Amino acid sequence: MLAHRSVRHFRDRPRAPGTVDLLVAAAQSASTSSNLQVWSVVAVEEPARKARLAELAGQQGFIRAAPLQLVWLADLHRLAAVAETAGATAGGIDYLEAFIVGVVDAALAAQNALTAAESLGLGGVYVGAMRNHPEQVAAELALPPHVFAVFGMAIGWPDHAAGSDVKPRLPPQVVLHREQYVPPDQAAIAAYDATLRGFQREQKMGEIDWTRQCLARMKDTAALRGRDRMREALANLGFPLR
Ligand SMILES: Cc1cc2nc3c(=O)[nH]c(=O)nc-3n(C[C@H](O)[C@H](O)[C@H](O)COP(=O)(O)O)c2cc1C
Repeated sequence: MLAHRSVRHFRDRPRAPGTVDLLVAAAQSASTSSNLQVWSVVAVEEPARKARLAELAGQQGFIRAAPLQLVWLADLHRLAAVAETAGATAGGIDYLEAFIVGVVDAALAAQNALTAAESLGLGGVYVGAMRNHPEQVAAELALPPHVFAVFGMAIGWPDHAAGSDVKPRLPPQVVLHREQYVPPDQAAIAAYDATLRGFQREQKMGEIDWTRQCLARMKDTAALRGRDRMREALANLGFPLR
């Protein structure tokens, strides 16, 4: 887990048979709120569909290049269907709480799968840009109402020639609070800015402070790159978020 790095360059080499099933077994082994298991995953391998998803997800080339795209879903449709079959009500799924449960379940499952993939020597990267056009992604994957694609995940054999190193994180004292929350240590954050610039220099990446990167990402509505309409998109997908 400490060797994790996102992989965006892949080698053309077939996966061992059964790999997707193994990753899903790891995903299903994750904890899940009240055993509701309100998540699903769509495994996309068809090149034309991957290309369309790449278009919808910020035209990120690695989505096309990776042999496998796993799209992780908050899936409340299954509960709605179970309730319908039982002739029962499922009003609870209309609440923001149920949506959060679905997103958390999907994230826990996905991270288990990524860790499992990395343990097999595979690599991958999450694709949050799958939320840039939620309704179109839902249409592409034939998602029923009450299902939301939380993020994608490109998976394949890493091309180590193009790979980067483990990216440094914030100093632990910034994220670990003992007993009670402590305000951010600005000196530690400034030190991290310098560490990250050093890492970017080594990796021959463009240099940008963590601070400036975060500010640019959260600056205003435009910086959300279309994701400012998430509430509206979720309503269209059957999530009233009461
Ligand atoms: C939910 C989520 C969404 C992400 N979306 C993208 C994405 O759309 N494109 C991308 O290149 N990286 C994406 N990433 C990868 C992050 O940029 C990466 O994890 C972070 O910079 C830390 O780098 P590392 O994973 O190599 O340690 C995403 C990561 C997460 C957890």
